[in-house]
Amino acid sequence: MRSPKDFFRPLAVGAPAPLREVPANPSRMIHFFPPSNAKMVAKVPDIAPTVDVLLGNLEDGVPATDKEAARAGLIEVGKKWSTPDTQFWTRINSLDSPWALDDLQAAVLEIGDVLDVVMVPKVEGPEDIHYVDRLLAQLEAKAGLDRPILVHAILETAAGVARVEEICAASPRMQGLSLGPADLAANRRMKTTRVGGGHPGYLVRADPEGGDLEAPRATYQQDLWHYTIARMVDACVSNGIFPYYGPFGDIKDVQACEDQFRNAFLLGCVGAWSLHPVQIGIAKKVFSPDPKDVAHAQRVIEAMGDGTGAIMLDGKMEDDASVKQCRVMLETAKALAE
Ligand code: GLV
Ligand code: MG
Repeated sequence: MRSPKDFFRPLAVGAPAPLREVPANPSRMIHFFPPSNAKMVAKVPDIAPTVDVLLGNLEDGVPATDKEAARAGLIEVGKKWSTPDTQFWTRINSLDSPWALDDLQAAVLEIGDVLDVVMVPKVEGPEDIHYVDRLLAQLEAKAGLDRPILVHAILETAAGVARVEEICAASPRMQGLSLGPADLAANRRMKTTRVGGGHPGYLVRADPEGGDLEAPRATYQQDLWHYTIARMVDACVSNGIFPYYGPFGDIKDVQACEDQFRNAFLLGCVGAWSLHPVQIGIAKKVFSPDPKDVAHAQRVIEAMGDGTGAIMLDGKMEDDASVKQCRVMLETAKALAE
């Protein structure tokens, strides 16, 4: 997969900036911390080296009365940032809130030199990205930054999903998209009250007249997010940017979290958000290819010789397209090992 930096054009405002060396991968987990919480800010030096991406959250989850404290906490962390192998992101408030402009100004002017990506919530169309792109260009020029800050959008409104391709293509700054299942559920008027994951009521029941003979009334919980994730992955990949699953709110249910992350991984996502340290390990495990799958991929590639034609391996047909899938597995493993 190409890195977002391959897509950079010179910025619209200020001198053309050199391409920014943002490690696009790995970003298996985007670990959220609330910068308004002094205790959490104090833990940053310990947490930062253990994650691929650390994100200071200014938006939902931060009470309206703490928005300024959160901004100040983010700046404090940015000023002391000394973990260059970890990406440093922030999630600003939504563009229709009273805080987004102040968030962007503070983040770029105060700590733009260490900030890799700005996550923009509730993006509804390319115009939202254009607005952020132009502001970033002005602020970068004002701050004298020599590398552009990238943009990550959260897909969490029906309008955003309907225009996901345009959002991905809206700016060369686009780094990726995350699914925002909680806001998306509300906006779509779904009947859930959870933050991501499945729902016990959304299931498929085997036909009592037949179907699965072993378990005639078996029920299977369905993935509420399959359609949106698949659509997001297609839009991201066709624009050379990265798709992510978003939050999983039931911190205690580590099994369901792992299942949800794995569904997203298998569908093409490169990472997910972690909201608690326990989810860091889950994301690391799920979004790193299993060594058994990597070994198998290597075996198929070797057995396929020049990569064309068809062979039988362990009773299964493999051909040119299997080789391509196996290469994805190896490339992912290699990128994570680097
Ligand atoms: C994330 O922001 C969500 O709404 O799920
Ligand atoms: Mg949200």
